[in-house]
Amino acid sequence: MEATKVGIIGCGNISGIYLENLSKYDATDLFAVADLDASRAQAKADEYKVPHVLTVDEMLAHPEIEIVVDLTIPAAHFDVAKLALNAGKHVYNEKPLAIGLYEGRELVELAASKGVRLGCAPDTVLGAGIQTCRELIDSGEIGELVGFNAFMMSSGVEAWHPNPTFYYQVGGGPLFDMGPYYVSALVQLFGPVSRVSGITRTSFPTRTVSSQPLAGTVLTVDTPTHIVSTLEFVKGPIGQLTTSFDTMAGTDLKHIEVYGSKATLRVPDPNFFGGPISLKRVGSDTWEEIEITRPYAENARGLGVLDMALAIRSNRPHRANGELAYHVLDVMHSAHTSSDEGRHITLDSGVAQPALMPAAELKD
Ligand SMILES: NC(=O)c1ccc[n+]([C@@H]2O[C@H](COP(=O)([O-])OP(=O)(O)OC[C@H]3O[C@@H](n4cnc5c(N)ncnc54)[C@H](O)[C@@H]3O)[C@@H](O)[C@H]2O)c1
Repeated sequence: MEATKVGIIGCGNISGIYLENLSKYDATDLFAVADLDASRAQAKADEYKVPHVLTVDEMLAHPEIEIVVDLTIPAAHFDVAKLALNAGKHVYNEKPLAIGLYEGRELVELAASKGVRLGCAPDTVLGAGIQTCRELIDSGEIGELVGFNAFMMSSGVEAWHPNPTFYYQVGGGPLFDMGPYYVSALVQLFGPVSRVSGITRTSFPTRTVSSQPLAGTVLTVDTPTHIVSTLEFVKGPIGQLTTSFDTMAGTDLKHIEVYGSKATLRVPDPNFFGGPISLKRVGSDTWEEIEITRPYAENARGLGVLDMALAIRSNRPHRANGELAYHVLDVMHSAHTSSDEGRHITLDSGVAQPALMPAAELKD
């Protein structure tokens, strides 16, 4: 099978692991990089031995590049992806798919009308940890699904991120930033969401940056930073997802627990690919560690791109797809809208539960 030529737009913080992995897989040929800051693209090309440094326009016009991987900041995802889709490229965006819900829908429809693929992070949920949990649920080990609790609790990003500004602007906040991992994981485990409610608050009107180089800068907070949402799934389970930048002293509540008629399952952090996973069965006082035997337990960011490249060649659906990312975006917007309007939101978007990953590494 001929390798698919890939171009990456956006050579910032997260790009290194994509460059490392996509140059390693047989099915992806890392062909070119581009960035608004050409020196950044050049530095990454030198480090990872990428043969071409192009402008964004050159990349989109290049006839040999089939997949464009968009690793720009969230505010640029829609524009970059739209340009690439219009140029006839398959596109894989970092999360979130777009900031606006209508923008996300437009990308899904544009890809369909152009007959090209739209993919989107996160692909951590295709890794060994979440996939093992999915296998346990599908095999009936948990019994009838009742619900879940999920927590992403932090004190914000201004103490470590070099440019934390966008996290406190519209389109930022803990749900848009980290929610894609959690909601995508829940959709992997349970299938699509039917109904959402949320209550949000902004606990602190300003945040003072302590990381370099902006230490001392005071940021105005323009988006909710503590969001409690409830989700009902089409298959029946219900639960709550709390995402917070406002839990200043920390908490032991973390990650995801799934409750079933036969067992409770502790699901690992969906921001990572591996475990640990533990299970407590009805009648037992102890938690059992679950051995992880599935592939991709290490940092495999780019796995969604690999799956998409193979899917294009085999003419099968790809897993980290635009419809799924749009559904996740709909859930996140609906939690905010529910809080603003004081009502439950029944979702318009639906999506098929993604196929379980194979038990061995991807081949086709
Ligand atoms: N940093 C992380 O740990 C991390 C982890 C997972 C996902 N992500 C996601 O990855 C994406 C990128 O994050 P990052 O931390 O690498 O950001 P970053 O700011 O470090 O890098 C973004 C890069 O994109 C370039 N860029 C911006 N707009 C562009 C445009 N229109 N055309 C060409 N280049 C453009 C910038 O010059 C910059 O080099 C975001 O969507 C983020 O949510 C980041």
